[in-house]
Amino acid sequence: MRKVIYPGTFDPVTNGHIDVIKRASELFDSVIVTIAVNASKAPLFTIEERLNMLKESLKDFNNVEVDSFDGLVVEHAKNVKAIGIIRGLRAISDFEYEFQMALMNRKLDSDITTVFLMPHEKYTYLNSSLIRNLAELKADISEFVPKTVLLALSKKFK
Ligand code: COA
Repeated sequence: MRKVIYPGTFDPVTNGHIDVIKRASELFDSVIVTIAVNASKAPLFTIEERLNMLKESLKDFNNVEVDSFDGLVVEHAKNVKAIGIIRGLRAISDFEYEFQMALMNRKLDSDITTVFLMPHEKYTYLNSSLIRNLAELKADISEFVPKTVLLALSKKFK
């Protein structure tokens, strides 16, 4: 059983994340999408809200589960018996931060390998902050996020 985890803030999940998850689910037997804590972020949505949005958006993938944790990502990977960590690379600008995190995670646990997947190029410029800003300004974001996220954002910014 080749299991991987895909950690992130997912505030909220976008179609770019889902593109990465789909690719991972085709390559590995099991994918756990994990809401992790990035200490430098103050999320708009609670963990429970983000879990619900992820679960609803991913309900059609039969080898994808969703969870959350507060701690080291490599420890969580080990606890759930994952062999690797999935991260998305959208553009060169992602590379330095991701490279640093991947090497630090490897230093912390050399058994856990980071695998980078590239989402479709139409999602290159997408990120969750941009989505939150656009939603607040009432722009049409329906092509960038799942329906459940669209609904949750319209409730937050009504
Ligand atoms: N499509 C669209 N957007 C994407 C994307 C994709 N495929 N991939 C990344 N993004 C965006 C995210 O929406 C997010 O946007 P935002 O900053 O505007 O909110 C940004 O890119 C990066 O976010 P994310 O992938 O959620 O990573 P992160 O940097 O917020 O979180 C953690 C990184 C949570 C994985 C990291 O902090 C961590 O591992 N924390 C646990 C503690 C730990 O182990 N620390 C040691 C690490 S070495």
